[in-house]
Amino acid sequence: MKNFLKIEDFSKEEIDLIFEKIDKVKKDYPSNKNQQNNLSAITFFSEPSTRTRFSFERALSYLKIPVISSSDASGSSSLKKGESFKDTFRTLSQYSDLIVFRHFDEKWVEYAKYSRVPVINAGNGSGEHPTQALLDLYTIKSELGNIENKNVLICGDLKLGRTVHSLIKVLAQNNCKILTCPSILYKHESLPPISLDLPSSYGFYPSIKINEVEDYLEDIDILYMTRTQKERIDEYNTAFFDFFKLDNRTINKLKDKCVILHPLPRNEEISEEVDDDPRSAYHERQIKNGLYTRIALIQYLLQC
Ligand code: NCD
Repeated sequence: MKNFLKIEDFSKEEIDLIFEKIDKVKKDYPSNKNQQNNLSAITFFSEPSTRTRFSFERALSYLKIPVISSSDASGSSSLKKGESFKDTFRTLSQYSDLIVFRHFDEKWVEYAKYSRVPVINAGNGSGEHPTQALLDLYTIKSELGNIENKNVLICGDLKLGRTVHSLIKVLAQNNCKILTCPSILYKHESLPPISLDLPSSYGFYPSIKINEVEDYLEDIDILYMTRTQKERIDEYNTAFFDFFKLDNRTINKLKDKCVILHPLPRNEEISEEVDDDPRSAYHERQIKNGLYTRIALIQYLLQC
């Protein structure tokens, strides 16, 4: 057995031998095109993830596409050494045919154009989460038959929650009537509360107060719940929050055909007591659709 620990471990002859091998690898190494059986992918995650990363990786293994995975990419890649997103994409795209990327800096998406292979946004800070929107929309269609003209109520942290930012655009495209109920952040007793509203760049939708929600529930077709993005709020440890909570009492006000969605993870906004209600799609159907959606998306982008 031979180690390679310093350059002198190889003689000049051995180096020549290795160069011959490199020439052969280079010649045989398939180009990115027309080699369906030799695709590979990178999942580059710099924020925590359970569903998104694992469903992408399961989707890739289902498609028999090997994956190079990093769950702590900002700490373990050269981003930590000050490398730019531009150079990171240039590099990653030399090793793979697809990059699935999540990072807390919203602006990374602007550098995806430097990749030579498709890049999927698995979350850019508080910006967007387009694959979640796709699976949410697919779930709505499979639960309700169609998406058009539905009454939607979106509750939670609309300011910092990226899933809503992507979803709201496609709901609007489908002529849904959208109502919002933002969480409230109390920074300090002496300061006025802050409403975690949807940023205006995502559109203007009527907003209702937490104590008014119950008056609207009977007309809602889609209830989309989200958690407060506490890790994105500096004052998290000292602040307190108020938000609409779905529990055994409030769920009774919803119609039988309503669908309840949550991108998860859930905190206190949905009580576990409603998990088994047939309208609750978040734990099984929505998650499973996430896998199917990502398989189909990869097939579509890689034409495989
Ligand atoms: C969401 C995310 O990461 O934006 N989770 C997910 O991908 N399913 C929602 C969240 O973190 O609140």
